[in-house]
Amino acid sequence: MRNHKIAAIGGDGIGPEVISAGLEVLAACAKRDGAFGLDVSHFDWGSDYYKKHGLMMPADGVAAMRKFDAIYFGAVGAPDIPDHVTLWGLRLAICQGLDQYANVRPTRILSGITSPLRDVTAKELDWIIVRENSEGEYAGVGGRVHRGLPEEVATDVAMFTRAGVTRIIRHAYKIAQARPRKLLTVVTKSNAQRHGMVMWDDIAAEVACEFPDVKTDKMLVDAMTMRMVARPQTLDTIVATNLHADILSDLAAALAGSLGIAPTANLNPERKTPSMFEPIHGSAFDITGKGIANPIGTFWTGVMMLEHLGEAKASQRLMRAIERTTADKANHPPDLGGTATTRKVTDAVLQALEGDNA
Ligand code: IPM
Ligand code: MG
Repeated sequence: MRNHKIAAIGGDGIGPEVISAGLEVLAACAKRDGAFGLDVSHFDWGSDYYKKHGLMMPADGVAAMRKFDAIYFGAVGAPDIPDHVTLWGLRLAICQGLDQYANVRPTRILSGITSPLRDVTAKELDWIIVRENSEGEYAGVGGRVHRGLPEEVATDVAMFTRAGVTRIIRHAYKIAQARPRKLLTVVTKSNAQRHGMVMWDDIAAEVACEFPDVKTDKMLVDAMTMRMVARPQTLDTIVATNLHADILSDLAAALAGSLGIAPTANLNPERKTPSMFEPIHGSAFDITGKGIANPIGTFWTGVMMLEHLGEAKASQRLMRAIERTTADKANHPPDLGGTATTRKVTDAVLQALEGDNA
């Protein structure tokens, strides 16, 4: 039997609640499949750990992750610790330390879920956003001097490397090539930012030659927001910088009905290091502990993790169970306008898995 070693990091806020629901569902997937098992180790890293130890995770935390096949991650962020401390201390430290350079964010309107776009059908909004996840505006290059003085200066330098841009664009082309429409939209802001963004455009044109069967399409990020709203059916696979794709993926999640259902994979596509799978939503302190967090984003994230682990059959079965669940509005938690609890949604998915005879 195949055995996959999973590191589970619930983290902050609703993170532990949705990860615990996700692990329950994944265990059921493994049992239902019968051909693989999940060996889960839990890590209590995050803001509570920080309050006790002064660090978000132990100094050798990233190294400790290397022996796992995948990381299942909840959320990070606490109201009483600055966000840049929690983020750089845990999530970004893992993403950068393990070179998870491709952040992949699928967006679809699941059965039973209503898009705020008036006329869009589920078929018309089916995107994969590929976000550069290791450099760019999140490179951490910059500084702050003369603090508090009138002369204070702060810089955040968006750092783009030929190697970094080439590998993310190539990965995006591969994803686009594997999808029926074979269409990649490259998003930049190369009219105003005339160095890094122009290099993106140049590299995209070079890499395009390796994928003659994929149609390339270029957009400026501001115009892209309008196109996502006004003509969603003209898009398929999208590649953009770390910050641009961060913003576009929130818009995408909202257009698909809710941030509560949106999944993410932080991938090292060459599999030299473990990849990390997390829902997009974040820690959501306003609803922490109330039992009403939407676990669908975490379940869909589990679908991506199973796929990455090579468990295609189980992954497809879980996706079907998720859609069977969302199709019934009685299973919608408050973020989707319903009253379902995390428990109720989880039970519905478990039941759908059991009833799936495919
Ligand atoms: C996301 C989130 C994070 C990001 C936050 C929590 C810093 O918005 O995963 O999109 O911007 O990377
Ligand atoms: Mg974001």
